[in-house]
Amino acid sequence: MKILVINGPNLNMLGIREPGIYGSSTFADLLALLEQTGKEENLEIQQYQSNHEGDLVDKIQWAYGKIDGIVINPAAYTHTSVAILDALKAVRIPAVEVHISDVDAREAFRQISYAGMACEHTIKGHGLAGYREAILYLKAHYA
Ligand code: DQA
Repeated sequence: MKILVINGPNLNMLGIREPGIYGSSTFADLLALLEQTGKEENLEIQQYQSNHEGDLVDKIQWAYGKIDGIVINPAAYTHTSVAILDALKAVRIPAVEVHISDVDAREAFRQISYAGMACEHTIKGHGLAGYREAILYLKAHYA
């Protein structure tokens, strides 16, 4: 099974950005976790991070016909991007939404998730472990 993990803006700053909210683990730690999960679970895991909305849309479109499941943390674009929602709906690849922080316990503007409307499942507030949970969810339901 081929899984694509997509991270949106500022997630490359993990470990530096607001550690009280996102923790002290770095983006490199996340990449290591993904690699380890792929090996342990015998999955082909690719990852992509961009700070640019259109690049995220391009990557979702690229996945069509190539990828069996998407794990996506659209970061701030979660709450604004109809384009990312439409891209996920267009490719119809099973997707799981991840948020490192518990967005429900934060500002009101973080309560809406456009991307989440096209996702099978959402994991919020479990830190980096949420990515592993999302991968295992896709494996359990779609492998
Ligand atoms: C986030 C939550 C978003 O509201 C925020 O804009 C992010 C990260 C999270 O992983 O908790 O950049 O998606």
